[in-house]
Amino acid sequence: MQHLPRAVALALAAAAALATSGAGAQTAPLKIGLMLPATGTYAALGDMIEKGFKLYVQEQGGKLGGRELQYFKVDDESEPSKAIDNANKLVKRDQVDVLVGTVHSGVALAMARVARESNTLLIVPNAGADDITGSQCAPNIFRSSFSNWQPGYGSGVVAAGKGYKRAMTITWAYAAGAESVKGFTEGFEKGGGKVIKDLKLPFPNVEFQALLTEIAAQKPDIVYAFFAGGGAAKFLKDYDAAGLKKSIPFIGAGFVTDGTLEAAGPGGQGVLTTLHYADNIDTPRNNAFRKSFALAYKANADVYAVQGYDAAQMLGAGLAAVKGDFAKRDALQAAMAKAVIDSPRGKFTLSRQHNPVQDIFLRESKGMNNDFVSIAVKQLADPGRGCKM
Ligand code: BEZ
Repeated sequence: MQHLPRAVALALAAAAALATSGAGAQTAPLKIGLMLPATGTYAALGDMIEKGFKLYVQEQGGKLGGRELQYFKVDDESEPSKAIDNANKLVKRDQVDVLVGTVHSGVALAMARVARESNTLLIVPNAGADDITGSQCAPNIFRSSFSNWQPGYGSGVVAAGKGYKRAMTITWAYAAGAESVKGFTEGFEKGGGKVIKDLKLPFPNVEFQALLTEIAAQKPDIVYAFFAGGGAAKFLKDYDAAGLKKSIPFIGAGFVTDGTLEAAGPGGQGVLTTLHYADNIDTPRNNAFRKSFALAYKANADVYAVQGYDAAQMLGAGLAAVKGDFAKRDALQAAMAKAVIDSPRGKFTLSRQHNPVQDIFLRESKGMNNDFVSIAVKQLADPGRGCKM
């Protein structure tokens, strides 16, 4: 070093000391593994989550807690059988610090397993699988979205409140559909109703005709549905084409009409749903978010964009508390667990099991929006059944 100018030599020595102490690693970009669907019926949902996440980071000047982020991506195809391998591509091959994903409950349950076994921080920005913040809960697993039980329960409360007595449900036969229907049934039967039949078809099948014929024959007072993405748009069209929209009242988990209204056409108009977000919540926070999203992407935000945005906010709260030092994992996770997230949906905190405690809104679809009607259930917390944390 004797041939180098003194200032350069000192800088090199400091860098070398930092590298041997490991502290240098805390100034390198934080590695974020985005595991989302880029193909299949949930592809558009994955795209909105990624856009929302990156928008929040961009609004913070490209850094969270002073750390730049580096993204690694895997298309999970909403395919549970490939989920463990896909999660391991991010955790083992790319050595990400944080896993963010996904949309499909079955895939997310596998991600939670990988996260628990490798102690990787996981933030779920959509998938509602109840067990993620129930029996599979863990200090390193967080959710910025909802549990499947929450919007379902809200629809049940609304349907019973309207005086309906006999309901039928229709959904895809996988964790999200089953748990959403369970939530609906709990809310509906608590209010004096009775679910007379649950109809299901395999995910992501869209051959609804036989089931719609059965609904027409049984003539329930109300139908509850959980579908999302491309399949939901097709369901709304078919429900309308079968003449049921005019004859049998309908209520759905909000995913039925979020991001699907353009594709659904007239079948998507005037549909009542329950969810933790409504497009036209008239608060400075939501208005600013929607404006910023529209400016960045030339598209309107939806619930998936909000959940991605809030996943980044949650990580940001943790990183800010440890000044970007990701090695301080316990302090980072503790800060995430007690953060108040200033979400476009309204401020929320997390339950002990790390699931948002939030208002569930009744909405009605009009044009390309899901408009606020009323608060169906205030500050609804998932029961977090089976969590031993
Ligand atoms: C789920 O699989 O948990 C899910 C998928 C799409 C929308 C909502 C929930």
